[in-house]
Amino acid sequence: MADSVFYVTTPIYYVNDEPHIGHAYTSVLADTLARYHRLFGEDVFYLTGTDEHGLKVQQAARARGVEEQTHCDEMVAHFQELWEKLAITNDDFIRTTEARHERVVREFLQRSFDNGDIYKGVYKGWYNVREEVFVTEKEAKAMADDVAAGRVIELEEENYFFRLSKYQPWLVDYIHENPDFIAPEARRNEILGFLREPLSDLCVSRPAARLKWGVPLPFDDQYVTYVWFDALINYVSAIGWHTEDTSRFGRYWPSALHLIGKDIIKPHCVYWPMMLKSVGIAPPRQILAHGWWIAADGAKLSKTLHGSGLFLWLADRYGVDAFRYFLMRNMAAGQDAGVDEQTFVDRVNSDLANDLGNLLSRTVKMVRQYVGGKVPERRSLDETDEGLREKIERSLVRARELIERIEPHNAIEEILSFVRATNRYIVEREPWKAYQKGESEVVEATLYHCLESLRMAGVALWPIMPAKCAELFEQIGAPAAPGLWEEATAFGVLQAGTPAPGGPSLFPRVGKLQGQPETPKPRVAKPAVGKPAGAVAKAKEKAPEEPGVPEGLITIDEFANVQLRTAEILEARKHPNADKLLVMRIALGEERRQIVAGIAAHYKPEDLVGKRIVVVANLQPATLRGEKSEGMLLAAHTPGGLTLITTEDPTCPSGCKIS
Ligand code: MSP
Repeated sequence: MADSVFYVTTPIYYVNDEPHIGHAYTSVLADTLARYHRLFGEDVFYLTGTDEHGLKVQQAARARGVEEQTHCDEMVAHFQELWEKLAITNDDFIRTTEARHERVVREFLQRSFDNGDIYKGVYKGWYNVREEVFVTEKEAKAMADDVAAGRVIELEEENYFFRLSKYQPWLVDYIHENPDFIAPEARRNEILGFLREPLSDLCVSRPAARLKWGVPLPFDDQYVTYVWFDALINYVSAIGWHTEDTSRFGRYWPSALHLIGKDIIKPHCVYWPMMLKSVGIAPPRQILAHGWWIAADGAKLSKTLHGSGLFLWLADRYGVDAFRYFLMRNMAAGQDAGVDEQTFVDRVNSDLANDLGNLLSRTVKMVRQYVGGKVPERRSLDETDEGLREKIERSLVRARELIERIEPHNAIEEILSFVRATNRYIVEREPWKAYQKGESEVVEATLYHCLESLRMAGVALWPIMPAKCAELFEQIGAPAAPGLWEEATAFGVLQAGTPAPGGPSLFPRVGKLQGQPETPKPRVAKPAVGKPAGAVAKAKEKAPEEPGVPEGLITIDEFANVQLRTAEILEARKHPNADKLLVMRIALGEERRQIVAGIAAHYKPEDLVGKRIVVVANLQPATLRGEKSEGMLLAAHTPGGLTLITTEDPTCPSGCKIS
């Protein structure tokens, strides 16, 4: 077994969320590092998974009318399928609803309780019902609307607390003594700043009466574990802490590297080391916080932004490897990065189509024309050849250091710098002239250096673009897998006489942008309140004929095209130009929309605020007498008039899918 050990983790993703580019980034970063460290000959363990407990999951499952576990089992597939598609090579996938995890959570809590670090106390203060979090006085003041609507309430209840305050001085010393523990430095300073204020103890339970979907406390089954306390423990439960066989824990834990987004540093850099200290486990080796992907319009990327798969469609359109490359190249350590199709295409065109792709296509073309399509003899004629070889070797040493420092964007630059140097070398050497003059040694030396440069670029980029680099190896007659870094980055691996057959362009240049893909539009429209006159008839006309479907019935696919979601009415007013219409502002999760509906004869605006309704969320926007309507609410036509379709559970969050 290798001496060096590398244990890397991603956050466990909320199972309820739709995966987006932010999730993909952390998983691709961890995967890239895992693949590099395997290439360096280390013993690697890469862990990812899903965070499956908590109120939101409970509510979403209830809103769908399914068991919580069934809901999680279905939702987890979204992540697992994405990781497969993105060629993620995790060694384990932990789900917090697995028995192996829950057992460890209970053991952890019991130990901490036995040590006197968890105690029962009374929480008195503000509480955000929807988010299931306690809020400070100051935060509650800033949420006056929510307080008025009963979404943020004053609460006094018994709960269990973890003594954060006890470990505060220890943690401050630990961070000072271990300057690399939290990276980058800005985040370390942020945490040290936070630790300057006295910490309140952390509430680590929720009454089971309010929240069923969690791990019961081992010492009081009237309570379940607070979701963060449960989630963080995944990093040790997956590798078998306190199980029958703790060898994996003993081997991997000391090298643990947690990759996280900058928004979750507090639980990771404050709660987690203290929790570990409480049960006698050393802190992880490092916690590294990356920045956020920001949409090109500058808005924070969130799951409501733009709809349409949240930039994951870039991988479908331009290929998984180009997508992985973009993620690794365009985000600098610790900083935010912008994403849109243009930025993506610019990067692919300049680095992959121009620099790398061009070097490959011109090299294999010359190999075919000048040396019979086979790797030529290895030759080095002068300092131009030597200079190029030295440049490549230097860059590769540096690239490895940069990977070890978790700076893949700089490592890529270093690798690309020798690819560009090789393109310049070709221009300087002009092998086409040497060929015409019959200087076969010059031709061979030049082409051997170009092929080796390509091979080593392929080795060095292989952890980022495994499939494309494998194609590259095939085109130039290199071994199919690079083996270990040490040998693979030594000049001269290619054997003279091996066929270098070339092949299709690895990264064709992208011309015109195609724009964001359309989200599927409903093919069948339902008669509805607030719908522009004639729209139903038009939609019917447009509906394509489905052979074999009896008239009047729709297929399950047609139904699936209609996106029904729960929504909350935030504001309602009379339409300025139409007596029958009301204009409403609604919340769909974090998204805000305006809808117009013909319900003025049945509802007063002030009675609507706070109602949890059902809307068709993917209806084409329409303007009704000058007011924009982005969706349609559902109502039943009763004998006496009209009644809104609402959710049975009055706390059901907005934005839930209905199926
Ligand atoms: N379940 C918790 C983590 C528990 S770990 C013990 C959680 N889950 S999450 O699904 O909401 O977020 C997972 C990660 O995605 C976080 O690291 C978060 O920073 C990251 N991102 C969410 N949006 C992001 C971007 N737009 N860009 C980059 N990463 C972002 O938090």
